[in-house]
Amino acid sequence: MSRHRIAHLSDTHLTGSGFDEDGVDAASALDRMLHDLRLVPDVDLVVVSGDIADDGSVAGCAGVLERVGRFAAERGVPQVYCTGNHDARGPFGEVFGSGHLGADGRDQGEPIRDAGDERAAVSVVGGLRVITLDSLVPGEVLGRISEAQLAWLRSVLAEPAPDGSIVVLHHPPVALDWFPQMAAINLQNAADLARAIQGRDVRAVLCGHYHLQLSATLAGVPVWVTPGIVTRLDLTAGPAQVRAVTGAGAGLVELTPDGHSFHALHARDPRAGTEVYAFAAGPE
Ligand SMILES: [Fe+2]
Ligand SMILES: [Fe+2]
Repeated sequence: MSRHRIAHLSDTHLTGSGFDEDGVDAASALDRMLHDLRLVPDVDLVVVSGDIADDGSVAGCAGVLERVGRFAAERGVPQVYCTGNHDARGPFGEVFGSGHLGADGRDQGEPIRDAGDERAAVSVVGGLRVITLDSLVPGEVLGRISEAQLAWLRSVLAEPAPDGSIVVLHHPPVALDWFPQMAAINLQNAADLARAIQGRDVRAVLCGHYHLQLSATLAGVPVWVTPGIVTRLDLTAGPAQVRAVTGAGAGLVELTPDGHSFHALHARDPRAGTEVYAFAAGPE
């Protein structure tokens, strides 16, 4: 079994202009994070776990592909993308295809069949099986995995891969109890995902969506929620307060023959921590 080091990005929220709907310079945040990741050695896969385009647009997706694709090409490593609640399946597919691209940008994923326009897919990277799920529910912030994807996931996991599997999806199947806004917008059928991965070769579940780092388990499998690129959610504001600040972050996911580690990197940004929005959350 080989070692795998994954640069895990999420929530780039790009648009054609580069600015998200809150006025944050999302393109610069991504550029800054990728620039600061350049000195991390031996990255062998880049993952972007959804909310790629803030407005679901082709232009937003293309801006991310241009930047992350350049990073992947310079290192000769594959790049994997999945949808988030801000994305739209049509434009996502137009730009990313299955979402599993080689270092040269060529599509090397095997997409789910018979699931409408849902964008789940699988590929194998140096013995590690990479599975993307599509938890997008159009018009909703929360997420759900369809029965078609769950059945497909069970069939993919029926046979183990040489170095095991990782599952990438936008909506975390975990939440912090004391911050109820999370459970209202996370993966609503986490128990179904737990049953599908339990006792299989899944070594990590990689998510985004919360714009903060969080490590937990699901059915005994490590779950990593990676920091957001565009903003960081600041939970020091208290359980009823939703506060976001600037400051791009990314995760480093390390899989070794002995286990795993998750690490959060923060981009060098002299203006990190500037408040973007803050409001009192209403009753759910
Ligand atoms: Fe997001
Ligand atoms: Fe999201």
